[in-house]
Amino acid sequence: MYTETEIKSLINKALLSTITRNSPVELYDPILYNISIGGKRIRPILCLLCYNLFKETIDNNAIMPAMGIEVFHGFTLVHDDIMDDAEIRRGNISVHKKWSKNTAILSGDAMCIEAYRFISQTNTNHLPQVLDIFNKTAAQVCEGQQFDINFEKKFLISENDYLMMINLKTAALIAASAKIGAIVADVSIADCENLYQFGYNLGMAFQIQDDVLDTYGNTGIFGKTIGGDIVSNKKTFLLVSALIRAQGQQMSNLENLLKTNDIANDEKIKKVKQIFDELEIKQLADSKINHYFNTAMEYLDKIKITDYRKENITKFINNLIDRNY
Ligand code: IPE
Ligand code: IPE
Ligand code: MG
Ligand code: MG
Ligand code: MG
Repeated sequence: MYTETEIKSLINKALLSTITRNSPVELYDPILYNISIGGKRIRPILCLLCYNLFKETIDNNAIMPAMGIEVFHGFTLVHDDIMDDAEIRRGNISVHKKWSKNTAILSGDAMCIEAYRFISQTNTNHLPQVLDIFNKTAAQVCEGQQFDINFEKKFLISENDYLMMINLKTAALIAASAKIGAIVADVSIADCENLYQFGYNLGMAFQIQDDVLDTYGNTGIFGKTIGGDIVSNKKTFLLVSALIRAQGQQMSNLENLLKTNDIANDEKIKKVKQIFDELEIKQLADSKINHYFNTAMEYLDKIKITDYRKENITKFINNLIDRNY
């Protein structure tokens, strides 16, 4: 069995040996940059840990789709940073700020193509099923990203709308990563579905945690600018819950903070965060994260293999949910 660390170094080696400096460098350098500056690699790790639940040796049949998933994810980050006007990614300057928006658009497109090139190297007997879920998921990520942007301009978003949006933009890809690991391991349709649901619940917990860290994290550890979501009125779990809970003066204060352009970013972050604290929104988010995490564990329990075989994946998800990075 492979540990998280072993799998991560397997993926990094495979990625860095396949994606090399190419011509024109203006197109390929930003790709190499995005891949080499870090990233937790949680999606390919999850994919390979799911594969490793059933198969003793991790081979190319699983590594190729896992790499495809990671490069696709990298592509979404390069474009997401343009959409969110984010300056820092993985503790470094984001691609569109380091080069330009045009570079980030085209290098991102090339990454999406590269992702499909990896996916298409899956064994021919699994390829139709892998492509089917991958195509569906890729479309869902775009849909989720559009809802995320639409919601910036909408004042009141229900919790269900928020959950629908994060399912599409984040949980769907994490769910697909787990399921693809199961598909290429040739397991039953029922277990592929159990692992999809496991990944979906983990993905929901992961995005709510990302929302929390965007306000309560530390840039040096988290690798992104803290407070960016507050500045752009992102309908995160925190803001959606605060808008549902706030009343009277607190509600009008929050409303003014969202509507005015006449406030420095630091000041806006401080004041919105203060309202979150008064309403105990972080505690609410933590209990939602626990709910999704526990449901994920219930789906993992449905897989009828020994607890010993589940040890590494259990350690991995526990670390993930306790993260501050
Ligand atoms: C960032 O994903 C985008 C979200 C879905 C929150 P990660 O937090 O997995 O980013 P990297 O790959 O580790 O940089
Ligand atoms: C990102 O959501 C989801 C995708 C990239 C598809 P966020 O906008 O919250 O991701 P970060 O916080 O910038 O990583
Ligand atoms: Mg975004
Ligand atoms: Mg973003
Ligand atoms: Mg975020």
